[in-house]
Amino acid sequence: MEKKQIEIEITDLAFDGKSVGYLDGKVVFLNGGLPGETVRAEITRSKPRYNQAMVHEIIRKSDQRVPAVCPHFDYCGGCTWQDLGYEHQLAYKKKQVVDCLQRLGKLGDVEVHDVIGSSELFNYRNKMEFSFHVAPDDSFTLGLHRRGRFDEIFNVEKCYLPQEIASEIVIWMRDYVSQKQIPIYDVFEHTGYMRFLMIRQAKNTDGLMINIVTTKGDFPDEESLVAEMIGTFPQITTIVHNQNGGKSNIATGEIEKVLYGPGYIEERLFDTTFRIRANSFFQTNTRQAETLYQTGFDMLQTDGSERLLDLYCGTGSIGILLASRVAEVVGVELVPDAVTVARENAEVNNLTNISFFEGFVRDYLREYNQNSSAFDIVVVDPPRAGLHPKALKQLIELHPPTILHFSCNPATFARDAGKLTESGYFLKEVKPVDMFPHTMHIELATVFRAG
Ligand SMILES: C[S@@+](CC[C@H](N)C(=O)[O-])C[C@H]1O[C@@H](n2cnc3c(N)ncnc32)[C@H](O)[C@@H]1O
Repeated sequence: MEKKQIEIEITDLAFDGKSVGYLDGKVVFLNGGLPGETVRAEITRSKPRYNQAMVHEIIRKSDQRVPAVCPHFDYCGGCTWQDLGYEHQLAYKKKQVVDCLQRLGKLGDVEVHDVIGSSELFNYRNKMEFSFHVAPDDSFTLGLHRRGRFDEIFNVEKCYLPQEIASEIVIWMRDYVSQKQIPIYDVFEHTGYMRFLMIRQAKNTDGLMINIVTTKGDFPDEESLVAEMIGTFPQITTIVHNQNGGKSNIATGEIEKVLYGPGYIEERLFDTTFRIRANSFFQTNTRQAETLYQTGFDMLQTDGSERLLDLYCGTGSIGILLASRVAEVVGVELVPDAVTVARENAEVNNLTNISFFEGFVRDYLREYNQNSSAFDIVVVDPPRAGLHPKALKQLIELHPPTILHFSCNPATFARDAGKLTESGYFLKEVKPVDMFPHTMHIELATVFRAG
């Protein structure tokens, strides 16, 4: 059936990076185009409440438009806003935070500060995950997802998000796997071997980790892989091999084998050193992680006597950075590997006033609420889904005087902030920090005070 062609004016940007316009009173979400532009597009999906469309031609250009730097920009799922001037990206991100607070949290009177922009617009990521993918003609690709496609990977030749060497390693690895004829994992048939190539490179040390993720089984002739890879890239400090035998398409493994070097890299935030292992969370933009944390820490008052609870602590960064300002820190984290690294990081930094609980936040809070005395400060830094309803309920029951809240999702933040303010917490201001230029992502730092 022939798809309907439309001419439409774009009025806004949506949370997922799509642009927005209206046709006969019905909202249209478009791939491509910027606010203020008139475009020719094709309707790709028609639903009762909205349409989706693909932009084919820009008839009238916005003056917010800038040339995209990346050769893959037109089809890559990574940087959907690279053609939007950076100051305008920041303005749209702020608007999204304001909209979420008003619509989802009923918090229209909270002050939203201007977004703190990133000093690095490119090469800012310390971690990139590239996927192997079998093409229909039995060739393969190693790279990133095509925009809007979970089932298509294009060959990356140059990516501007990590440091430059990452693209060279991707090209090298593609050639190596092709020459050695190592089978590629097929996500539909669950056959083959090579799944992901993950590259982690510290900003403040010389650490450079290669993590090869495959299905179960040793890497074929791993000695020659290491010799050839290190021969070509002597900057690499460690190579690890993770084996993921499961069907879920994630770049973590149940079995990890260190093929070269110590199996971890180190990164410094402020003056503190953190170990990072292949499977544990660490903020992806090192420089802006410092900005985000500092923005939150500046809103805290401490006199050294406080007990601090760091919920969703990952590898312990926040609690470790705050340990010298308070009497005691307890971190809570679900992923066992992350807890191991958090303990290692406390030891590396000679901290004796910090301990970690491995498990769900809601379970920790349920047990804790029944047994123990209060925390003065609770830090929460949940994943994109925000606080689990049970965790939020338990947190409200714990009722600490101060909650330092970091968030990577303004929508779930607004929902949770609405519940916290309903239960007596006061929220004066929200400080957004841009960790991911050219994407729609935005991080928030704020403090809730008990009324
Ligand atoms: C956004 S990260 C924050 C990590 C850390 N605060 C940092 O800044 O590096 C969220 C963390 O929460 C953990 N997590 C997710 N759901 C959890 C739950 N229900 N209970 C405990 N930890 C959880 C994840 O494994 C992840 O390490």
